[in-house]
Amino acid sequence: MNATAAVAAAVVPAAGRGERLGPGAPKALRELGGVPLLVHAVRALARSRAVGLVVVAAPADGVAEVVGLLDSHGLDGKDVRVVAGGATRQESVRLGLAAIPAEVEIVLVHDAARPLVPVEVVDAVAAAVRAGAEAVVPAVPLADTVKRVEPNPGAPEPVLDTPDRATLRAVQTPQGFRRATLAEVHAKALTEEAGGGLPPVTDDAGLVERFGGRVVVVPGHEEAFKVTRPLDLVLAEAVLARRRATDAY
Ligand code: CTP
Ligand code: MG
Repeated sequence: MNATAAVAAAVVPAAGRGERLGPGAPKALRELGGVPLLVHAVRALARSRAVGLVVVAAPADGVAEVVGLLDSHGLDGKDVRVVAGGATRQESVRLGLAAIPAEVEIVLVHDAARPLVPVEVVDAVAAAVRAGAEAVVPAVPLADTVKRVEPNPGAPEPVLDTPDRATLRAVQTPQGFRRATLAEVHAKALTEEAGGGLPPVTDDAGLVERFGGRVVVVPGHEEAFKVTRPLDLVLAEAVLARRRATDAY
Protein backbone atom coordinates (compact mmCIF):
# COMPACT_ATOMS: atom_id res chain seq x y z
CA MET A 1 0.00 0.00 0.00
CA ASN A 2 1.54 3.37 -0.94
CA ALA A 3 1.22 6.52 1.19
CA THR A 4 -1.93 7.79 -0.54
CA ALA A 5 -3.63 4.42 -0.30
CA ALA A 6 -2.91 4.21 3.45
CA VAL A 7 -4.92 7.39 4.08
CA ALA A 8 -8.60 6.66 4.46
CA ALA A 9 -11.52 8.48 2.89
CA ALA A 10 -14.77 8.85 4.81
CA VAL A 11 -18.32 8.78 3.46
CA VAL A 12 -20.87 10.64 5.58
CA PRO A 13 -24.49 9.71 4.80
CA ALA A 14 -26.42 12.87 5.68
CA ALA A 15 -29.44 12.70 3.39
CA GLY A 16 -32.04 11.46 5.87
CA ARG A 17 -35.09 13.46 6.93
CA GLY A 18 -34.85 12.68 10.62
CA GLU A 19 -38.50 11.64 10.96
CA ARG A 20 -37.99 10.32 14.51
CA LEU A 21 -36.53 13.64 15.63
CA GLY A 22 -39.79 15.38 14.75
CA PRO A 23 -40.65 18.33 12.51
CA GLY A 24 -37.89 20.68 11.39
CA ALA A 25 -34.90 20.83 9.08
CA PRO A 26 -33.29 17.59 7.81
CA LYS A 27 -31.56 16.01 10.84
CA ALA A 28 -28.00 16.58 9.60
CA LEU A 29 -28.67 20.32 9.47
CA ARG A 30 -30.23 20.55 12.95
CA GLU A 31 -28.01 22.41 15.38
CA LEU A 32 -26.06 21.22 18.41
CA GLY A 33 -24.34 24.03 20.32
CA GLY A 34 -25.18 26.36 17.42
CA VAL A 35 -23.39 24.17 14.85
CA PRO A 36 -25.12 21.69 12.48
CA LEU A 37 -24.83 17.99 13.41
CA LEU A 38 -23.21 17.36 10.03
CA VAL A 39 -20.44 19.89 10.71
CA HIS A 40 -19.69 18.26 14.07
CA ALA A 41 -19.53 14.85 12.38
CA VAL A 42 -17.26 16.02 9.56
CA ARG A 43 -14.99 17.80 12.04
CA ALA A 44 -14.75 14.65 14.16
CA LEU A 45 -13.51 12.75 11.10
CA ALA A 46 -11.25 15.56 9.86
CA ARG A 47 -9.54 15.62 13.26
CA SER A 48 -8.16 12.13 12.59
CA ARG A 49 -4.79 11.94 10.86
CA ALA A 50 -6.00 8.68 9.33
CA VAL A 51 -8.59 10.52 7.22
CA GLY A 52 -7.57 12.51 4.12
CA LEU A 53 -10.89 13.09 2.37
CA VAL A 54 -14.51 13.36 3.50
CA VAL A 55 -17.40 12.87 1.07
CA VAL A 56 -20.80 14.03 2.34
CA ALA A 57 -24.01 12.60 0.85
CA ALA A 58 -26.37 15.55 1.33
CA PRO A 59 -30.15 15.71 0.90
CA ALA A 60 -30.66 15.84 -2.88
CA ASP A 61 -32.38 19.24 -2.63
CA GLY A 62 -29.78 20.57 -0.19
CA VAL A 63 -26.42 20.12 -1.89
CA ALA A 64 -25.73 23.84 -2.37
CA GLU A 65 -26.78 24.60 1.20
CA VAL A 66 -24.47 21.91 2.58
CA VAL A 67 -21.54 23.12 0.46
CA GLY A 68 -22.12 26.61 1.90
CA LEU A 69 -22.33 25.33 5.48
CA LEU A 70 -19.12 23.33 5.22
CA ASP A 71 -17.33 26.27 3.58
CA SER A 72 -18.29 28.56 6.43
CA HIS A 73 -16.90 26.24 9.14
CA GLY A 74 -13.20 25.46 9.59
CA LEU A 75 -12.44 21.84 8.75
CA ASP A 76 -8.71 21.42 9.49
CA GLY A 77 -7.77 21.93 5.85
CA LYS A 78 -9.18 18.52 4.88
CA ASP A 79 -10.56 17.86 1.43
CA VAL A 80 -14.38 17.79 1.81
CA ARG A 81 -16.70 17.04 -1.12
CA VAL A 82 -20.47 16.96 -1.32
CA VAL A 83 -22.65 14.72 -3.48
CA ALA A 84 -26.42 14.27 -3.64
CA GLY A 85 -27.58 11.40 -1.41
CA GLY A 86 -30.31 8.87 -2.15
CA ALA A 87 -33.68 7.58 -0.95
CA THR A 88 -32.16 5.12 1.56
CA ARG A 89 -29.06 5.26 3.72
CA GLN A 90 -27.63 2.41 1.66
CA GLU A 91 -28.09 4.38 -1.56
CA SER A 92 -26.54 7.49 -0.01
CA VAL A 93 -23.45 5.49 0.99
CA ARG A 94 -23.20 3.98 -2.49
CA LEU A 95 -23.35 7.43 -4.10
CA GLY A 96 -20.73 8.80 -1.70
CA LEU A 97 -18.45 5.83 -2.32
CA ALA A 98 -18.64 6.43 -6.08
CA ALA A 99 -17.09 9.89 -5.53
CA ILE A 100 -13.95 8.54 -3.84
CA PRO A 101 -10.82 8.43 -6.03
CA ALA A 102 -9.85 4.95 -7.24
CA GLU A 103 -6.50 4.86 -5.44
CA VAL A 104 -8.07 5.13 -1.95
CA GLU A 105 -8.00 1.67 -0.37
CA ILE A 106 -9.60 2.29 3.04
CA VAL A 107 -13.08 3.76 3.44
CA LEU A 108 -14.87 4.73 6.64
CA VAL A 109 -18.63 5.28 6.71
CA HIS A 110 -19.89 7.61 9.42
CA ASP A 111 -23.43 8.78 10.18
CA ALA A 112 -23.92 12.54 10.18
CA ALA A 113 -26.24 11.76 13.08
CA ARG A 114 -23.28 10.77 15.33
CA PRO A 115 -21.80 14.23 15.86
CA LEU A 116 -19.76 13.54 19.00
CA VAL A 117 -17.73 10.46 18.07
CA PRO A 118 -14.30 10.80 19.74
CA VAL A 119 -11.31 10.89 17.39
CA GLU A 120 -9.89 7.85 19.20
CA VAL A 121 -12.73 5.72 17.79
CA VAL A 122 -12.08 7.00 14.25
CA ASP A 123 -8.37 6.24 14.63
CA ALA A 124 -8.99 2.77 16.07
CA VAL A 125 -11.34 1.74 13.26
CA ALA A 126 -8.96 2.99 10.55
CA ALA A 127 -6.02 1.27 12.26
CA ALA A 128 -7.85 -2.06 12.39
CA VAL A 129 -8.51 -1.93 8.63
CA ARG A 130 -4.92 -0.92 7.99
CA ALA A 131 -3.85 -3.92 10.07
CA GLY A 132 -5.72 -6.25 7.73
CA ALA A 133 -9.43 -6.50 8.67
CA GLU A 134 -11.83 -6.20 5.71
CA ALA A 135 -14.69 -4.77 7.82
CA VAL A 136 -14.54 -3.18 11.27
CA VAL A 137 -17.34 -1.85 13.47
CA PRO A 138 -17.06 0.03 16.77
CA ALA A 139 -19.55 -1.21 19.32
CA VAL A 140 -20.45 -1.08 23.01
CA PRO A 141 -22.04 -3.60 25.38
CA LEU A 142 -25.76 -3.18 26.06
CA ALA A 143 -27.15 -1.79 29.29
CA ASP A 144 -30.66 -3.15 28.73
CA THR A 145 -31.74 -6.75 28.43
CA VAL A 146 -33.02 -7.40 24.89
CA LYS A 147 -35.99 -9.56 23.94
CA ARG A 148 -37.06 -10.79 20.54
CA VAL A 149 -40.78 -10.34 19.96
CA GLU A 150 -43.43 -10.97 17.35
CA PRO A 151 -43.91 -7.34 16.29
CA ASN A 152 -47.50 -6.19 16.82
CA PRO A 153 -47.42 -2.43 17.41
CA GLY A 154 -50.21 -1.05 19.56
CA ALA A 155 -50.88 -4.34 21.34
CA PRO A 156 -48.97 -6.47 23.87
CA GLU A 157 -46.33 -8.30 21.83
CA PRO A 158 -45.51 -11.97 22.49
CA VAL A 159 -41.90 -12.57 23.55
CA LEU A 160 -40.04 -15.20 21.54
CA ASP A 161 -36.78 -15.36 23.48
CA THR A 162 -34.04 -13.47 25.33
CA PRO A 163 -30.58 -13.52 23.72
CA ASP A 164 -27.67 -13.73 26.17
CA ARG A 165 -26.78 -10.07 26.74
CA ALA A 166 -23.10 -10.86 27.12
CA THR A 167 -22.98 -11.80 23.43
CA LEU A 168 -24.72 -8.62 22.19
CA ARG A 169 -23.15 -5.31 21.10
CA ALA A 170 -24.74 -2.02 20.06
CA VAL A 171 -23.02 -1.00 16.88
CA GLN A 172 -21.89 2.52 16.03
CA THR A 173 -20.01 4.33 13.29
CA PRO A 174 -17.54 5.03 11.77
CA GLN A 175 -17.40 1.56 10.30
CA GLY A 176 -14.24 0.85 8.34
CA PHE A 177 -13.72 -1.26 5.21
CA ARG A 178 -11.27 -2.33 2.57
CA ARG A 179 -12.63 -0.19 -0.21
CA ALA A 180 -12.85 -3.13 -2.62
CA THR A 181 -14.98 -5.08 -0.13
CA LEU A 182 -17.40 -2.21 0.48
CA ALA A 183 -17.77 -1.44 -3.23
CA GLU A 184 -18.37 -5.10 -4.03
CA VAL A 185 -21.12 -5.64 -1.43
CA HIS A 186 -22.91 -2.41 -2.40
CA ALA A 187 -22.83 -3.45 -6.06
CA LYS A 188 -24.21 -6.89 -5.18
CA ALA A 189 -26.95 -5.37 -3.04
CA LEU A 190 -27.98 -3.12 -5.92
CA THR A 191 -28.26 -6.11 -8.26
CA GLU A 192 -30.30 -8.01 -5.67
CA GLU A 193 -32.68 -5.11 -5.11
CA ALA A 194 -33.23 -4.76 -8.85
CA GLY A 195 -34.29 -8.41 -8.82
CA GLY A 196 -36.80 -7.68 -6.04
CA GLY A 197 -34.42 -9.10 -3.46
CA LEU A 198 -33.71 -8.35 0.17
CA PRO A 199 -34.52 -5.01 1.84
CA PRO A 200 -31.78 -2.41 2.51
CA VAL A 201 -29.66 -3.00 5.61
CA THR A 202 -29.28 -0.44 8.41
CA ASP A 203 -25.48 -0.55 8.44
CA ASP A 204 -22.75 -1.27 5.94
CA ALA A 205 -21.18 -4.12 7.89
CA GLY A 206 -24.58 -5.82 7.56
CA LEU A 207 -24.02 -5.98 3.80
CA VAL A 208 -20.60 -7.53 4.26
CA GLU A 209 -22.17 -10.16 6.55
CA ARG A 210 -24.97 -10.80 4.05
CA PHE A 211 -22.47 -11.72 1.37
CA GLY A 212 -20.32 -13.89 3.61
CA GLY A 213 -17.56 -11.45 4.56
CA ARG A 214 -15.87 -11.26 7.94
CA VAL A 215 -16.67 -8.34 10.25
CA VAL A 216 -14.84 -7.62 13.50
CA VAL A 217 -15.75 -5.37 16.43
CA VAL A 218 -13.47 -2.88 18.18
CA PRO A 219 -14.45 -0.84 21.25
CA GLY A 220 -16.82 2.03 20.52
CA HIS A 221 -17.60 4.92 22.87
CA GLU A 222 -20.70 6.04 24.72
CA GLU A 223 -20.34 9.53 23.18
CA ALA A 224 -20.60 8.06 19.67
CA PHE A 225 -24.35 7.58 20.17
CA LYS A 226 -26.73 8.39 17.33
CA VAL A 227 -29.03 11.39 17.57
CA THR A 228 -32.33 9.76 16.71
CA ARG A 229 -35.08 11.05 19.02
CA PRO A 230 -35.54 14.44 20.73
CA LEU A 231 -34.04 13.20 24.02
CA ASP A 232 -30.80 12.35 22.18
CA LEU A 233 -30.39 16.03 21.30
CA VAL A 234 -30.75 16.95 24.97
CA LEU A 235 -28.04 14.43 25.85
CA ALA A 236 -25.81 15.65 23.01
CA GLU A 237 -26.11 19.25 24.23
CA ALA A 238 -25.09 18.11 27.72
CA VAL A 239 -22.08 16.16 26.42
CA LEU A 240 -20.97 19.14 24.36
CA ALA A 241 -21.36 21.49 27.33
CA ARG A 242 -19.26 19.12 29.46
CA ARG A 243 -16.54 19.01 26.80
CA ARG A 244 -16.52 22.78 26.47
CA ALA A 245 -16.24 23.13 30.26
CA THR A 246 -13.52 20.53 30.73
CA ASP A 247 -11.27 20.56 27.66
CA ALA A 248 -11.72 23.93 25.99
CA TYR A 249 -13.35 22.01 23.10
N1 CTP B 1 -29.32 8.77 5.67
C1 CTP B 1 -28.97 9.10 4.36
N2 CTP B 1 -29.87 8.93 3.35
C2 CTP B 1 -31.09 8.46 3.60
C3 CTP B 1 -31.47 8.11 4.93
C4 CTP B 1 -30.56 8.27 5.96
O1 CTP B 1 -27.85 9.55 4.12
N3 CTP B 1 -31.94 8.34 2.58
C5 CTP B 1 -28.37 9.04 6.77
C6 CTP B 1 -28.92 9.99 7.81
O2 CTP B 1 -28.77 11.34 7.35
C7 CTP B 1 -28.09 9.68 9.03
C8 CTP B 1 -27.71 8.20 8.84
O3 CTP B 1 -28.07 7.86 7.50
O4 CTP B 1 -26.91 10.46 9.13
C9 CTP B 1 -28.38 7.30 9.85
O5 CTP B 1 -29.77 7.26 9.61
P1 CTP B 1 -30.91 7.64 10.64
O6 CTP B 1 -30.37 7.88 11.99
O7 CTP B 1 -32.03 6.67 10.45
O8 CTP B 1 -31.34 9.10 10.11
P2 CTP B 1 -32.68 9.52 9.35
O9 CTP B 1 -33.03 8.48 8.34
O10 CTP B 1 -32.47 10.91 8.90
O11 CTP B 1 -33.73 9.51 10.56
P3 CTP B 1 -35.17 8.80 10.60
O12 CTP B 1 -34.91 7.34 10.31
O13 CTP B 1 -35.66 9.08 11.98
O14 CTP B 1 -35.98 9.49 9.54
MG1 MG C 1 -33.51 6.45 8.94
